[in-house]
Amino acid sequence: MSTAVQELMSSPPVTCAADTTLSEATSLMDRRQIGSVVVTERDAVVGILTERDLLRASATDVDPHAESVRRWMTADPDVLGVDDEVDAAWSGLTHHHYRHLPVVDHGDLVGVVSMRDLLTVAQIRPAGESGADVPRGLEGVVVAETSVGDVRGREGFYHYRQYSAVDLAATRSFEDVWVLLFDGALPDRERSEAFVREVAALRSLPPVLADLLPAVASVGSPLDALRTAVSLLGAESGWPAGLDIDADERRAQALRLCAVVPTILTAVHRLRHGLAPVPPRPDLPFAANYLWMLTGEEGSPAHVRAVEQYLILTIDHGFNASTFTARVIASTGADLAAAIVGAVGALSGPLHGGAPSRALAMLDDIGSPDRAEAWIRDAVMRGDRIMGFGHRVYKGDDPRSLFLRGVARGLGGDLVDFAEQVERTTVDVLADLKPGRELYTNVEFFAGVVMHTCGIPRDMFTPTFACSRTIGWAAHVMEQAANNRLIRPAARYVGPPPPQPVPAP
Ligand SMILES: CC(C)(COP(=O)(O)OP(=O)(O)OC[C@H]1O[C@@H](n2cnc3c(N)ncnc32)[C@H](O)[C@@H]1OP(=O)(O)O)[C@@H](O)C(=O)NCCC(=O)NCCS
Repeated sequence: MSTAVQELMSSPPVTCAADTTLSEATSLMDRRQIGSVVVTERDAVVGILTERDLLRASATDVDPHAESVRRWMTADPDVLGVDDEVDAAWSGLTHHHYRHLPVVDHGDLVGVVSMRDLLTVAQIRPAGESGADVPRGLEGVVVAETSVGDVRGREGFYHYRQYSAVDLAATRSFEDVWVLLFDGALPDRERSEAFVREVAALRSLPPVLADLLPAVASVGSPLDALRTAVSLLGAESGWPAGLDIDADERRAQALRLCAVVPTILTAVHRLRHGLAPVPPRPDLPFAANYLWMLTGEEGSPAHVRAVEQYLILTIDHGFNASTFTARVIASTGADLAAAIVGAVGALSGPLHGGAPSRALAMLDDIGSPDRAEAWIRDAVMRGDRIMGFGHRVYKGDDPRSLFLRGVARGLGGDLVDFAEQVERTTVDVLADLKPGRELYTNVEFFAGVVMHTCGIPRDMFTPTFACSRTIGWAAHVMEQAANNRLIRPAARYVGPPPPQPVPAP
């Protein structure tokens, strides 16, 4: 079945002039319950203004009552013809990351088509006729709306709410960013201090978990233990199905869970090494308490801040596999623990949780700067991947890597100098042997260097990442629950054609 764009577009389209102010455009979109408005001049389409543009503008200090939409709209947008096939519209929207496209007929604007309209068509197509060809691995496909944050790979930029994640790491505390993700706004000083106290009081292990943790820790990896422990926490706390609780209860559960995850992981680490767990210190903020529970010693202010900045940088990162997993589980109305257990499972896969420890192992193996070039060349010629380089989304500098390189420099030390030499050599060798692939340093490379320098053992690199990312997952679970619809996609059946007679046994 082929469907033309005119069968599903919203018509007539809502329009405004280019000199309309941002606040007028906002109230127009609110009133009409739409996510975009087409900007016209003398009946010709000159731009499209979307909710995302309004969000970008609101993050600046422009006056929405004076600023016109002209500067914020996408000028000269791609347009569709009324007779275009839905598949063409789908590919335009997914490939270019558009969410809305104007539809024209002989040059006249007649409608707007949105990603949501296309998904509706995908759902009403008969089974066997997929709504569209979706790239393998869902690369670039928009599957949800979020205001938690986003990644703009081409620009080398990512953000939490309306703030650059890197700016937040440079200027705010981990707890402040936690509040931002959970509540949507940064706290003032008083609120921040109250929040630090509130979550510090939630860190202790529940007795059942404390009793069972030695057995849990004795088998598998720290992330295996975390998966089991979060499941126990949910069951022991008697958390009802997510569908049956309100936003306040969900937030209270999320605070408890995020506060206790570092206690679980550090206790698991110590038990695995024959050491007694170190109880949490309510007088220490998140990062300082983490190092305390891990080592039994107070970290130096420089180490605490470096770890805190790493944690801020990794709290969320767009619609990655574990975040998507958490949202799918939350969409079924399951409880928070179920969603986080699933997310930890996704994170534990080597293609996702990655292994900053592998980048460090490579540095060990290279051994000295003079061996770097030959080592890297040999590895690439053999077809190996150089750990800590390349990224699916970033095709230039990974902003997390740039920031962590600065953090590592601030900490100083031989390892940092060596890592920088190897980084330069690797980028050059990759440019030479893999021209045009745009391979640069990713977050893993300097993450390992920073964590190692701050005294975090290698087997705790990915668990440390999990401590911060749990907060991102929980923010997404809350967002999903607040405006839920069961996430239930379709697959294209490619097996033998049915129905065939069932052979006799
Ligand atoms: C992160 C990663 C999986 C992204 O991969 P991707 O976007 O799917 O890229 P592709 O697998 O399509 O690779 C494109 C090309 O670049 C090469 N390439 C990508 N990353 C490379 C690396 N780290 N070392 C050497 N070559 C690399 C591939 O070999 C391929 O070359 P080809 O065109 O000759 O076949 C990949 O860059 C990688 O494996 N990096 C190393 C592991 C790592 O650091 N992971 C942590 C990520 S945060």
